[in-house]
Amino acid sequence: MRAVSANLLALLFLCTCACVFYVWSRLESRLERYKRGLQLPRSFHVGPSPDISAKTFRALLAVPVAQRLHLGGRLDVRNVTGVRDQIGSLGSRDYHMNVDNKGSVQREVPAKFGSLVEGIFWSEWLEAQLPASFSEEHARAWRERARGHRIVRLEPGCGRISNQLATFSDGAKACVRYGINADQVQGETLTYYLANLLGITNLPPLILAQLNVDSEQWASVRRRIGGLQWSERAVVSLTEWVANLTGVVTPAPLRQESKGLRPLQGELGNKTTAELLELMQWTDLIILDYLSANFDRLVSNLFSLQWDSRVMERETNNLLRTPRGDLVFIDNEAGLVHGYRVLDMWEKYHSTVLGSVSVFRKRTAQRVIELHRRRDTRTRLLELYRDSEPLSPELGFLSYEHADVLQNRIDRLYKHILHCKEKYHQL
Ligand SMILES: Nc1ncnc2c1ncn2[C@@H]1O[C@H](COP(=O)(O)OP(=O)(O)OP(=O)(O)O)[C@@H](O)[C@H]1O
Ligand SMILES: [Mg+2]
Repeated sequence: MRAVSANLLALLFLCTCACVFYVWSRLESRLERYKRGLQLPRSFHVGPSPDISAKTFRALLAVPVAQRLHLGGRLDVRNVTGVRDQIGSLGSRDYHMNVDNKGSVQREVPAKFGSLVEGIFWSEWLEAQLPASFSEEHARAWRERARGHRIVRLEPGCGRISNQLATFSDGAKACVRYGINADQVQGETLTYYLANLLGITNLPPLILAQLNVDSEQWASVRRRIGGLQWSERAVVSLTEWVANLTGVVTPAPLRQESKGLRPLQGELGNKTTAELLELMQWTDLIILDYLSANFDRLVSNLFSLQWDSRVMERETNNLLRTPRGDLVFIDNEAGLVHGYRVLDMWEKYHSTVLGSVSVFRKRTAQRVIELHRRRDTRTRLLELYRDSEPLSPELGFLSYEHADVLQNRIDRLYKHILHCKEKYHQL
């Protein structure tokens, strides 16, 4: 009898512990969301949008255009063409080049430093170990498939309620993003094409679609669309849904207490190949987020440090990892359009993050150099977008003002690469 009572008591105790732990973890996640809400400057606090409390970006987006921070502190557009081009020896490759899928490697084996970096660039050997996350062929095939099939189901599964997990008639899936305004869909779409222009393949393939419940594409989900209160004729983006993604914590060299990611043996020499391959993808991520002024990833973490000293230990917003180790950059809607509108507030954080990186992928750097030299980023981005996306006229493109901001950021990035090259030249 005693043994039975003791067992019952133990069971009761375990149940109580489990309950306390569950309640505590819910409280902790709520507290975190609450803190994120608090991070907003007062003037950003806004009306009744259903899910703006948790995320800095959404709260910012909900601010009426007239109240938004307008562009200030125009970027320094000094003529940098006179700068001696020390990177010319890199040569140049064509735009939109194909990236082949290569076999995967023994990613846990520590590699020799000499074969890892060449000057300020990840070595060709390391580059060769990283197959394209979403190759051009894959993206083209996915886009055709997505355009050619009906959507038969819309359900939660892609974050907030305005994003829906769509299932096509052939069983493929996509995240549909309905923007609360066109800026968001433009930001998502144009960032995808900017990444394409730079040869960055970590963004899932994307197409645009126009809501029309009478069309074959949407007819099967007419009732659901009505329930979501999505406006007819709105242009939405659809990105490939990828299974088995997990969260990603910012690696140590990119945290605020580190001296940054530098091409130094003492700092990289003891990393495994898998760690280096991830760092290599982070360098692309930082370049893309700097150019597009996307604050809704690493930059917002840096900002949150003021309130939350352990934010870097948590998973990075809008960044996921496949089981193979590829980083997937999702939710890029803060980029290019909205990010540029609120540059005043975020620029110092963008510069800090960029300044923490002194190693780059050669291919990405080459494209930045080309875009800097030709000063034709707007034209190239527009051509690529127009040629790839039939609904581009419906959604529109960057304003001339924002295209200038983009070109100026390319020029700044170029100077930063040059600066790193000078600093670590002898190494
Ligand atoms: N392409 C995708 N493939 C697989 N899962 C995805 C994809 N896009 C989004 N998700 C899932 O949806 C979650 C939220 O995505 P997203 O950031 O796009 O939406 P959100 O509304 O901003 O959500 P959150 O507020 O959680 O950031 C992701 O963490 C992931 O689990
Ligand atoms: Mg998100």
